[in-house]
Amino acid sequence: MAMGSHAQTVTIPVETQNNALVLQTDGDKTLKMVYFGSKLGNAKEYEQIGKMYRQADDSGVLTEAYMASGSQSLAEPAITVTHTDGNKSLNLIYVSHTVTKVDEDVSLLAVNLKDPVYPFEVTLYYKTYFKEDVTEQWSVIKHNEKGEVTLNKYASANLNLKGNGFWLKQYHGNWALEMQPEEAKLTHGIKTIDSKLGTRANLYEPSMFMVSMDKPATEDEGKVVLGALEWSGNFKIDLELDVSNNLRVIAGINNAAAEYHLKPAQEFTTPAFVYTYSDHGKGDASRKLQRWARKYKIVDGQGDRLTLLNNWESTYFDFNESKLFGLLKDTKKLGVDLFLLDDGWFGNKFPRNGDHAGLGDWQENKLKLPNGIGSLVKEATADGVKFGIWIEPEMVNPKSELYSKHPDWVIKQPNRPEKYFRNQLVLDLANPKVQDFVFGIVDDLFTKNPTLAYIKWDCNAVIYNAYSAYLKKDQSHLYTDYVFGLYKVLERVRAKYPKVPLMLCSGGGGRVDYGALKYFTEFWPSDNTEPLERVFIQWEYSYFYPAMTSSNHVTDWGKQPIKFRTDVAMMGKLGFDIVVSKLSEQDLDYVHDALKNYEYLKDAIWHGDQYRLQSPWDNDAASIMYVNDSKSKAVVFNYLVNNRYGAGTKVPIRLKGLDPQKKYLVKEINLYPGSNSSIENNLVLTGDFLMTVGINPDVNSGRTSVVLQLEESR
Ligand code: DGJ
Repeated sequence: MAMGSHAQTVTIPVETQNNALVLQTDGDKTLKMVYFGSKLGNAKEYEQIGKMYRQADDSGVLTEAYMASGSQSLAEPAITVTHTDGNKSLNLIYVSHTVTKVDEDVSLLAVNLKDPVYPFEVTLYYKTYFKEDVTEQWSVIKHNEKGEVTLNKYASANLNLKGNGFWLKQYHGNWALEMQPEEAKLTHGIKTIDSKLGTRANLYEPSMFMVSMDKPATEDEGKVVLGALEWSGNFKIDLELDVSNNLRVIAGINNAAAEYHLKPAQEFTTPAFVYTYSDHGKGDASRKLQRWARKYKIVDGQGDRLTLLNNWESTYFDFNESKLFGLLKDTKKLGVDLFLLDDGWFGNKFPRNGDHAGLGDWQENKLKLPNGIGSLVKEATADGVKFGIWIEPEMVNPKSELYSKHPDWVIKQPNRPEKYFRNQLVLDLANPKVQDFVFGIVDDLFTKNPTLAYIKWDCNAVIYNAYSAYLKKDQSHLYTDYVFGLYKVLERVRAKYPKVPLMLCSGGGGRVDYGALKYFTEFWPSDNTEPLERVFIQWEYSYFYPAMTSSNHVTDWGKQPIKFRTDVAMMGKLGFDIVVSKLSEQDLDYVHDALKNYEYLKDAIWHGDQYRLQSPWDNDAASIMYVNDSKSKAVVFNYLVNNRYGAGTKVPIRLKGLDPQKKYLVKEINLYPGSNSSIENNLVLTGDFLMTVGINPDVNSGRTSVVLQLEESR
């Protein structure tokens, strides 16, 4: 359906089940975003919203839907260009819009904007997921000038939010310290969250954030927007509290050292900025995003996942075929689905016996694996387990054959000394030959080993000395074209291997975003697997990513018993990275029982709704629950996170998401052999009771982690 602009003003409500974003043109046909919040009962009334605001704004365009710069808009722009003639002004005027219904749930709004002076246009896309209350927004930029136009800034979107004060919750971190939250009231001016690291872009700050309006939202109350950029490279999120006390959120590719030259008729499609809104707090907003991700974004989001044993922390680089054969047997003994061989299996002239050599040479190391991977895959099959493998295909050690053969494939300045991150450099994925090479690594592994069942795709270095021998005069394209190049490779991988599980890893959690998760089944949140730390890290990730995408491995980090470690790892996609032969018999019995419980509950954990009941930041005990779709099964994980005297759960924890009418049999599971539960046997309580009064899991220093299973009792 196409609509023109005959009327004075055009009002475009972008509605989802509970929310509405309203676009409206003014007398000059400038498109503004006049509203984002709860849907109104009478859609006609959206037209009235704009008129109700009498805020000081001389330029009249502080609420422009996609802020252009150098003409009448004077705030932080979404787009800045240099025309062919050197002129830097841009004015975007509404021309028309179309709404396409993709299916029952999904609609696509396209709004075409044009500069009245230059042949330059931008189409704003709003893809809405009605039931999930989620919107993906992006822009397509093109022109018909005589020669190249430079895009100095090319954000995906800007949102204009109204509220009586705004609170930003953002994250910072480092290796083994991912997802450290900070929440503060925004003051006037611009607050920026960004990355200029190139690859591994989230290492210090990820692009996920939340903004509460009117007051800081809690888990169940308050107005909140959750947003994230679907982009695996440099990003920039600007939050500008302007003179009218409105908040503008501008999200996109970071334009630092990244101007883009656009040829006539060439289209530049920005990555999508995904966001959702709830007026029922952060919990509701996060469940919307999780549901959307499972249904529409991640690979096989409605499907299954494999439990696994990884060898990184049990062997590091020190293994050979017979040791691995032993680990394959251990995989079976542990009772998980797959063995994942980590770093160190490749390189001959420069063997990968440490992290200083071999990256880039993806041939099996003949000393460690004289019979190749094929023999490991075969042995795994004979042992009744699957086999997966680690790669880091975007990277190269200077000590490698690849580096000597193709120095021009490596990102490095021609005239400056090389600077390494973990003794390695990044390959130039802007170069199609490098894309072929990276695709070839994956393709080769699957071609030679058709039953290979899993790949862990690592990425440990940032981009120093950004320079591409391939891009020649377009050096400023590198950061952007690198990511486009990566996505081209991943497209090819998925076209040929649509469902095989891939884990997105980046020296811990340096790279997780929905741009990449479109191609992956799961991600590695952090190398920090110390279970107490993990309660906090997983808690924060869970606002943005569904549990099934969070690869949680039980390792030997920390001093917690196997029960605590496993209980924590069960809150997502469970794996192990331990020396199985060192487990006591009781430990092993415990793990077997936990795996049985996991099998029984995984549908609720992976595909159900997650409720954060009690935060580890403010309580002695953290409590998180998962409820399956039919509300017949649930699991509540509780962990002691404070070891001061007497710390524990003194009062009941109110559960959420259950059916008040249903009766539930409550049972403590994952009990360590020989220990008894302090929860009453055969306890049956109604959903009403459990949600109104709650249940006390009796967490204390003698019961540091307690898992409760709830089953509908008929
Ligand atoms: C970093 C990852 O986060 C680890 O899990 C491991 O795969 C190492 N790289 C291997 O070098």
